[in-house]
Amino acid sequence: MPILAVNVDHIATLRQARLAQEPDPVTAAHMAEIAGARAIIVHLREDRRHIQDRDVALLRQLIKTRLHLEMAATKEMHRLALGIKPDMVCLVPEKRQELTTEGGLAVAGREKEIASFLEPLHAAGIGSSLFIDPDPAQIEAAKAAGTHYIEIHTGAYADAPTPQARQAELAKVLAGIRLGRELGLKVNLGHGLNYDNIWAFAKVEGVSEYSIGHSIISRAVLTGMNEAVSRMAAIVGSFPDPA
Ligand code: PXP
Repeated sequence: MPILAVNVDHIATLRQARLAQEPDPVTAAHMAEIAGARAIIVHLREDRRHIQDRDVALLRQLIKTRLHLEMAATKEMHRLALGIKPDMVCLVPEKRQELTTEGGLAVAGREKEIASFLEPLHAAGIGSSLFIDPDPAQIEAAKAAGTHYIEIHTGAYADAPTPQARQAELAKVLAGIRLGRELGLKVNLGHGLNYDNIWAFAKVEGVSEYSIGHSIISRAVLTGMNEAVSRMAAIVGSFPDPA
């Protein structure tokens, strides 16, 4: 059966908003594993806007499932990945100004460059994935680049403005899964998946992993409100009467 891989970047987003110690993505990762996550994903961005190097180092030591490191295909990240040895790296395009990863990696035309980036990682026992749009040319190029997995970008499906557009984007993702599998690739899905739109894949075969972050962290924050507020209200309520 497919696995759930939980991206804990936005726990770190909350921490970095105050440059504080909490909430700690490492603790969140541990809790996610207990709850059923079979892999933990972090994106170590060049600008370190959320996940920090310390987080990745601690996750590598502490998590018991699998550590997947999302990263840009840069020299710095290559060196870091070889040092950290995540179970898998997922190469993503990265732009400084973007709020989140905006599109898939352009692999077509760069197959040799990406293959030579991946080879030392594979030799070190690190698995690989390429985050790409559901575009046949990119999927074929990913195969030629020698990746183990592709992660098909589901953002266009998730963000489609109309039901018709959503159906059209879903059809592209489904065709992408089929093509990836026919080429012998393992296929993951990710970006923008939430508790509603994931149901479209309920009967879809051939998906190894669902990579989900924002919707899970958003729900965790809101479902935790009751406990968090009632605990603090009980503390404040136990203090002396102001009168
Ligand atoms: N997969 C990749 C490659 C991503 O860059 C992201 C976002 O960091 C995700 C999956 C998770 O997307 P979301 O946070 O929208 O669930």
